[in-house]
Amino acid sequence: MFHFGVDYYPEQWPEERWGEDARLMAEAGFNVVRLAEFAWAKLEPSEGDFNFDWLDRALSVMSERGIQAILGTPSGSPPAWLMTRYPEVFRMRADGRYLTFGNRREYCPNNPLYREYVRRIVTCMAERYAGHPSVIGWQIDNEFGDRCYCPVCTSAFQDWLCKRYISLDELNQKWGTVFWSHTYSDWSQIPVPLTTSNAPNPGLALDFSRFASDSYVDFQQAQIDILRHLCPKHFITHNLMGFQYDQLDYFDLARPLDFVAWDNYPRNQWSFHADVDSSGLALAADTMRGLKRQNFWVMEQQAGAGGWESLAVSPRPGELRLWAYQAIAHGADGVLFFRWRTARYGTEQNWHGLLDYNANPGRRYQEIKKMGAELHKVGDRIATSKVKPSIAMLLSYPSRFAFQVQAINPQFNYSAHFHQFYKALHRHGVAIDVVEPETDLTAYKLVIAPALTVMPERVADNLRKYVKLGGVLVATPRTGIKDEANAVVDLPLPGLLSDVFGIVVEEYDSLPPGVEQVLEFSLSELSVTNPPSASILCEILMPRGSEVIARYTRDYYASKPAITLNHFGNGQAVYVGTVGASPLYDTLAGWLLGVAGVRRLVAAPSGVEVAERWQGDRSLLFVLNHTEHVQEITLNGLYTNLLNGKDTIEGTIVVSPRNVLVLEKA
Ligand code: GAL
Repeated sequence: MFHFGVDYYPEQWPEERWGEDARLMAEAGFNVVRLAEFAWAKLEPSEGDFNFDWLDRALSVMSERGIQAILGTPSGSPPAWLMTRYPEVFRMRADGRYLTFGNRREYCPNNPLYREYVRRIVTCMAERYAGHPSVIGWQIDNEFGDRCYCPVCTSAFQDWLCKRYISLDELNQKWGTVFWSHTYSDWSQIPVPLTTSNAPNPGLALDFSRFASDSYVDFQQAQIDILRHLCPKHFITHNLMGFQYDQLDYFDLARPLDFVAWDNYPRNQWSFHADVDSSGLALAADTMRGLKRQNFWVMEQQAGAGGWESLAVSPRPGELRLWAYQAIAHGADGVLFFRWRTARYGTEQNWHGLLDYNANPGRRYQEIKKMGAELHKVGDRIATSKVKPSIAMLLSYPSRFAFQVQAINPQFNYSAHFHQFYKALHRHGVAIDVVEPETDLTAYKLVIAPALTVMPERVADNLRKYVKLGGVLVATPRTGIKDEANAVVDLPLPGLLSDVFGIVVEEYDSLPPGVEQVLEFSLSELSVTNPPSASILCEILMPRGSEVIARYTRDYYASKPAITLNHFGNGQAVYVGTVGASPLYDTLAGWLLGVAGVRRLVAAPSGVEVAERWQGDRSLLFVLNHTEHVQEITLNGLYTNLLNGKDTIEGTIVVSPRNVLVLEKA
């Protein structure tokens, strides 16, 4: 079954309205709602005084229309009575100041008192709804994140370190605390990295990021334990924030969940652009699928113009449906829109739901209703079908955290660098998994490891094995420079993988803004009329058996190697020792797909995305026109058009602006 629905806040509207809402939802084809994740104050209006009657009634109104429910545990937004009575529960920011009441996500995840209040309400909810016929699962909290630096976290961090390093000598040695006399003689001396004039010890900072991430994983686990025990028939998920969110190790957070859910907002007030970069949405979806290498849900899919203080660009006609299908094309088995009706009150007054303030089922509702009718026909065919990538990109949260402490060059951004490489490959219509570096990679033809700077031995061994067995591995600057404790290795760079890449990094240069190096490619298939430039970081490579693919042409390292290819075991290892703008990655992507023998889907014009899901050996082809123009693509083979009455089509077909086709190979 394909789950299609909406996030609903019955507590924000008069009860007399609920029936009409449920009717309109059912007419739109919705079969599921998410409820209650911000309703703590309604569920427990004062300490110990629980009131679930209204939620029971809301569930009944929904179930009369055949709509099931996911319940959110309300820990993401604690009530005023709790936070005023126990101000020590507030989260402390890196500048040492406690948050105050008036927003959400204000709590410290390690605070035992807070955990106790959360335990109580989650237990009461779980006991009440374990056997409810229309409750199918749980979302824990809402979009975990934000590091806390309070005294409770400081002592929890010290305990965490004690478990990790066992002895202080070990910690002092791994962090190199002899530097600037930071040697610790008691665990209680170790601080959390509050904002100081400069970056803290890199070892301490990386471990603190890991600890802060573990704190939420643990906070989440406490709720999972209750729900698994009391509601064994229900699924448990959490709504994550796609690729961009970089404060938590999402692989760890996803592990205990039944499946990943995430929130997809292509047009919001923080990315206030006329155009949406659809590759960013694809990357987010592929990351969410990669966390468990499993299909996912979108728990919040944009339903209207975003906006908190300001109002973001309104989704253009067709975009809501297009983005929802894009997520489906990348592996969504459930999509819920955020939110049903636009709130008249509160911080999100400007954040639009499917209905406007006046509840008028207008343009956006009609667009999604059309999609509901389509999914009624084809949803079951799509649900549980699989995306089958032969390319993996390795997302390393320790490396990402390490760059948060030391960006290396102010123009370098790990996430942007990762996205650039992804985008260049994605343009070719190839499926990509975003996975953790420890994953068994042997089934992939091509593995890209952008800026994998923190290189534990087990990761190096995994990559070595992958190449030895015939894989094609690509690395980029700063690879293998750091050990697990964020100390620089005392090996020739790229450290543990020097032999695999057949190089030694002789020297490196960090370039100021506007300064570029033109690259000269030695392979004929890569020589283009306008050779791409390199910028930001230039590693000067010394081949040790590898072939030179490109050289620098300027400055004191003119003619020195910038990109190399090495044959190692049965595989190949490409080292891209520099950073560039999109032409560099565009040039490399096509070549690398050829080197690795990756099959491309249908050739599509720019702005048209093609993606594939497999139901057994039956392929479903999604064609997504992200542009506002009519586009053409040429199919290879005969297809059935599943969305429009099952026409059979072949050859060159037309895709109207912002339209979607779902085709099945005939
Ligand atoms: C999400 C969040 C929702 C709502 C939405 C719009 O990040 O989970 O509760 O705030 O953004 O701002």
